[in-house]
Amino acid sequence: MGAEVVIEGLTKSFGKQAIWRDVTLTLPPGEVSVMLGPSGTGKSVFLKSMIGLLKPDRGKCVINGVDIVTCSEAKLYETRKLFGVLFQDGALFGSMNLYDNVAFPLREHTKKSEAEIKRIVLEKLELTGLSGAEKKLPGEISGGMRKRAGLARALVLDPEIILCDEPDSGLDPVRTAYLSQLLIDLNAQIDATILIVTHNINLARTVPDNLGMLFRKELVMFGPREVLLTSDEPVVEQFLNGRRLGPIGMSEEKDAAQMAREQAHADAGHSDGSSEEDVRGVVPQIEPTPGMPERAGVRRRKDRVMRILNTLPHAAQEGIIESLTDEERARYGVHSHMVPANAAARPRLDQPTQNFQPVQPSPRPRPVEDPPRGFQGDLADPQVARLPETNWKPPGGAS
Ligand SMILES: Nc1ncnc2c1ncn2[C@@H]1O[C@H](COP(=O)(O)OP(=O)(O)OP(=O)(O)O)[C@@H](O)[C@H]1O
Ligand SMILES: [Mg+2]
Repeated sequence: MGAEVVIEGLTKSFGKQAIWRDVTLTLPPGEVSVMLGPSGTGKSVFLKSMIGLLKPDRGKCVINGVDIVTCSEAKLYETRKLFGVLFQDGALFGSMNLYDNVAFPLREHTKKSEAEIKRIVLEKLELTGLSGAEKKLPGEISGGMRKRAGLARALVLDPEIILCDEPDSGLDPVRTAYLSQLLIDLNAQIDATILIVTHNINLARTVPDNLGMLFRKELVMFGPREVLLTSDEPVVEQFLNGRRLGPIGMSEEKDAAQMAREQAHADAGHSDGSSEEDVRGVVPQIEPTPGMPERAGVRRRKDRVMRILNTLPHAAQEGIIESLTDEERARYGVHSHMVPANAAARPRLDQPTQNFQPVQPSPRPRPVEDPPRGFQGDLADPQVARLPETNWKPPGGAS
């Protein structure tokens, strides 16, 4: 099972520019989470802070008992080996062909033979749809292919934690759908903890177990997918629906006058370019491809979410109960009067009934996330991490 990542009070600024403050969340082990947020809200900075490439001003990021923010260089180097990271720009070595790029972490961090390396590299290139492109240089392939090569490289060390910064950017809708399936299948196979940063609403609705959103220097929300998908928080609602109407503007802050102008425009019957349909609501999650193992994280998450069900907003509770299979309803003691009238019992797709084994709830109940606190000025001094060069770092000459 992938590692748990516990983030507490993480705060980051560059000089006088606060990026985000007091971010507290837990990435549950082996579950898939997505972080949403408008451009420039610091999502990439967040991922880089999680692996110690940037140094937060304060707060903790604890993995297997090691706090990335304060640990020694040696511990940091060791802990980073748990991660597979797909950087937003792919961060491939421009002068190396795809084969050597993907083989790089194996040659650097393992003593595997070239024959073994070849097996792994070709397997990951095939997994990401790049078979046949081994000899190409990053400059000779499309942006989407570079992204997929970055993902192949992120996977070669069988990471416990996978961070993907906009894995879908530069991909067409069909390849994005394949990528979504790939991430779910990967999670089913290696049970890694996965965090995906994306703007892709469809991916956000159908892939992750947990969803979060950064906006205006704080974590607006982070929790089970049903909470965000049913939220009527204006920022979340606007983002999920891709509307202009709402608190998010072209630049971070939107003033009251602009809000009023946009509202008048909409009231006059003009489209703002978004879909008429409200996309909120709990839609089914993508299941692993037939033949793949069951996702262990799904079962663990259900146990966890059912333990905290009564602390969740009403709409999220409804969405969760509605999505339970008959067996799950029996297992969690959900009675028919608790099930919303429009909920149809879903057939259980992931395993035959006779194999069903109730899971023991984890002995250590995880606390419900703290509600986000408001941003209150008071910026700390800049503290950009000055880490020694390690081979693991994304190369400067990224393409
Ligand atoms: N190394 C750095 N030094 C100074 N400022 C930085 C640095 N890296 C990022 N920033 C600033 O931090 C802010 C957040 O950047 P970041 O790249 O994390 O945004 P993002 O949410 O990933 O945006 P996008 O969705 O466009 O990728 C931006 O204002 C950016 O200019
Ligand atoms: Mg980014």
